[in-house]
Amino acid sequence: MPDTAMLQRLRDTLGEAGVLTDPERLAPYLVDHRDLVRGKAPAVLRPSSVAQVQAIMRLAAEYRVGIVPQAGNTSYCAGATPDASGGQFVLSLERLDKVREVDPLDAAISVDSGVILQRAQEAAAAAGLYLPLSLGSEGSCRIGGVIGTNAGGLSVLRYGMTRDLVLGLEVVLADGTLVSDMKKLRKNNTGYDIRQNFIGAEGTLGVVTGAVLKLIPVPLRRATAWVELAAGAPLPEMLALVRRESSDLVSSFEFITARSLALVAGADGRLKSGSGGVILVELSSSSQHLPIEELLEGVMGEVVEAGWAEDVIIAQTEAQRADMWRIRETIPEGEKHFGGSVKHDISVPLGRTVDFLAAGGAAVAAYDPALELSVYGHVGDGNLHYNVLVPPGEDRLAFTDRIGRELAPALYDIAIGMGGTFSAEHGVGRLKRGLLQHYADPGRYRVLRGIKGLFDPHGVMNPGAMVDPAEGLIAD
Ligand code: MLT
Ligand code: ZN
Repeated sequence: MPDTAMLQRLRDTLGEAGVLTDPERLAPYLVDHRDLVRGKAPAVLRPSSVAQVQAIMRLAAEYRVGIVPQAGNTSYCAGATPDASGGQFVLSLERLDKVREVDPLDAAISVDSGVILQRAQEAAAAAGLYLPLSLGSEGSCRIGGVIGTNAGGLSVLRYGMTRDLVLGLEVVLADGTLVSDMKKLRKNNTGYDIRQNFIGAEGTLGVVTGAVLKLIPVPLRRATAWVELAAGAPLPEMLALVRRESSDLVSSFEFITARSLALVAGADGRLKSGSGGVILVELSSSSQHLPIEELLEGVMGEVVEAGWAEDVIIAQTEAQRADMWRIRETIPEGEKHFGGSVKHDISVPLGRTVDFLAAGGAAVAAYDPALELSVYGHVGDGNLHYNVLVPPGEDRLAFTDRIGRELAPALYDIAIGMGGTFSAEHGVGRLKRGLLQHYADPGRYRVLRGIKGLFDPHGVMNPGAMVDPAEGLIAD
């Protein structure tokens, strides 16, 4: 349990507004986004400056108390929820919310890590540029969490994951040291790339307090098609054709099965599923001179000719395009409304997506043919959200636990056997820590532990997430 003296020193440093202890105000910080894990904390710390984050970490190091950094609290893997001991503090980034600078000539934006993603997108747009990170949770997730989880989303195929977009980073280490590397450089060969360690580290190595992100010209023109797939359509070949024939202007290539589509309330009846599901494909361009609509029509003609589509609808208006995207983006909400799902965020090499769908389907049918799947996702990145719907009447938590023990290992074995992974874009957090230990190459796992021990020798940074602190400790 944290010392009362520590709590008093935190109050002296952060002021009353910076230390929440009222149980009602604490509650939302103590449960994960999917309501799977509930923790306890003596207080939620809300620093309003980088210096205050440093002061918190110095105290945490002195008292050997765990700090759980939390940004928008939208982790899918309980990466930002304290444990049930009541001995770990939550460090909320929400008051670090300044957009520091948008630089049009360097095409970069510098932000505090508590800035909500959508606000960063708007600040970039106000400067005539575009932040190519597009996530379902963009209205509430914060940059610190996006970086901590190396978030992916809907346009990774064209612009990469978060780690590809981070030019500079500012981090407070476990002992309070500030590592300030907020450079906007595209080239900088001056030693080890320390920055990449913190991206995707889920706050287990330090607290990210600021970042410089890459911007691009605004994709003013978009051409979007809803492809009703024929049964057995070869998605990898289709992706390759669409990329090649569009001169690689594909920004999204999303897969939706009929069952996922049916979960979306008010889906436009004209936007149906084919026998093989749906591909939502979008080309985008910043140029007024490039006829991408014609390009898409030509490419879709080839897809139909190849026999891969039963029908293709090309969005004729912005409203129709928005409707296609609304359907795709509200599938997670549809699952929740149905009663929940057990999520498997797998990815396999691009050429194996159809193989995974077949093998995964067989594994589920062998386990229990009555189970229903909601499968959709970023098939253009080899990433499928392979979700098992909670059967009506079943207890969600008990079902999640059972599937996690009895079915998920078979699905993950299939993905990993194909050269894939058990976590494509949702992270490891507390939920998948055991999977990381089980599936990681032993040499790689040793390095992970070594990195953890190096940056966090006393195990105070987000203990319980990703790598077990006890395993990563370097002896005092
Ligand atoms: C998505 O792609 O919609 C999310 O990453 C998946 C989810 O919410 O389950
Ligand atoms: Zn996703």
